[in-house]
Amino acid sequence: MRILGIETSCDETGICIIEVKDDNNEKALTILGNQLYSQVAKHKEFGGVFPMLAKREHAKNLVPLLRKCLEEARLSSFSKEEWHSDDEVVRKVENILSREPELFAELKKLLETIEKPGIDAIAVTNGPGLEPALWVGVTFAKALNAVWDIPIIPTNHMEGHIVVSSLSPNTVHEVLPSNPHLSQGGVASPRDGAVVLRKIEYKIKEIKYPALSLLISGGHTQLVISEENLKYKIIGNTCDDAVGEAYDKVARMLGLPYPGGKIISDLANKEKAEFPNKKPPYPLPRPMIHSKDLNFSFSGLKTAVLYTLKKIPEITDQVKQEISLEFENVVLDVLEKKVSQAIEEYNPQTLIIGGGVSANLNIRTELEKVCQKYGLEFLVPEVSASTDNALMIALAGFMNIKAGKTPTTDFKANGNLSL
Ligand code: KG4
Ligand code: ZN
Repeated sequence: MRILGIETSCDETGICIIEVKDDNNEKALTILGNQLYSQVAKHKEFGGVFPMLAKREHAKNLVPLLRKCLEEARLSSFSKEEWHSDDEVVRKVENILSREPELFAELKKLLETIEKPGIDAIAVTNGPGLEPALWVGVTFAKALNAVWDIPIIPTNHMEGHIVVSSLSPNTVHEVLPSNPHLSQGGVASPRDGAVVLRKIEYKIKEIKYPALSLLISGGHTQLVISEENLKYKIIGNTCDDAVGEAYDKVARMLGLPYPGGKIISDLANKEKAEFPNKKPPYPLPRPMIHSKDLNFSFSGLKTAVLYTLKKIPEITDQVKQEISLEFENVVLDVLEKKVSQAIEEYNPQTLIIGGGVSANLNIRTELEKVCQKYGLEFLVPEVSASTDNALMIALAGFMNIKAGKTPTTDFKANGNLSL
């Protein structure tokens, strides 16, 4: 089964095509094409994501990324032949994209040069996220459905962050493209005169339930328990800011660029390496660390950093390192405490972490130790699949199809969609 994933919930435009083989309960996934365009540079000057700019950028990039992804996957044969489609379909697509005339014009141009690709379903993020940004992806999916008659599975972004942790690299295998003259994709190597593509195959691991998921991203900080596949109960949430948001806001206060998570973490590591035994000169509070519930709060921490900085006459690079280390230590302490508390309360067999902040190596190490202590299996995405991408959406789409979810075109973008 081949699935096209579309992700536009925030500031990354993602298109991915996966192929899943499901033999004898062994599920193997091959990424046929994976294209991601990060708008980070465009949003930097605003110090965060500007929703209408995100929407415009998605609209501009979806067609070029789809074209590249189809080329990489070598699924559509691109030809110069005219697209002899009936006017009714063209009108339907124009109607779906009536608020995005440029996107319609670009898509029409693409469709005039390609045939229907061998794709079985389209999985598109319909929430949560920035509604205008989600909206573009959803209407784009509906337009493709109108042209190609490929069913759509609306997909929850946070479910994508969870399920992508079940991928583990298996083997590299070679695919002989049907048309070797198509443009490059994968790792091309000549053999017997033909171009052979090497694609990485992933095993989709069976998750042992109950599973506890810690979702840490720019918009979410949640603890979720799953008693079975694709069933979720939120058992902890942030009362205010998400952890990624706190990283980004603290970075901004320190005069560091957006997004700040990785930069703060790198500065923290530098400080730790240079001064391994130094007492933190500016201790920060650990919000809600002793609360009996599983909720989080990060806005007080951000304010504490602000007041601390106000008292320091000059914010030198050294001060930035010190604040970064103490801030990251607060995050580590709070996450470790709340995850341990949830494990003791719910007794899961697996701990999953997902969301952009799960790219953080210190957080991974700390939570892996927690899993060793309690004897849990630890599932975490590859670093490159931790931040937003369309692979996770395509995979979540596949899992929902397997679970019997009915495809539909009767759905809307929902910025507040819950698990
Ligand atoms: O999941 P994601 O890509 O987008 C949302 O759905 O929000 O997460 C983005 C967040 C940003 O706040 C970014 O600063 C944070 O993930 N992030 C990190 C790291 N890499 C990305 N935070 C801490 N350490 C990192 N290495
Ligand atoms: Zn995300």
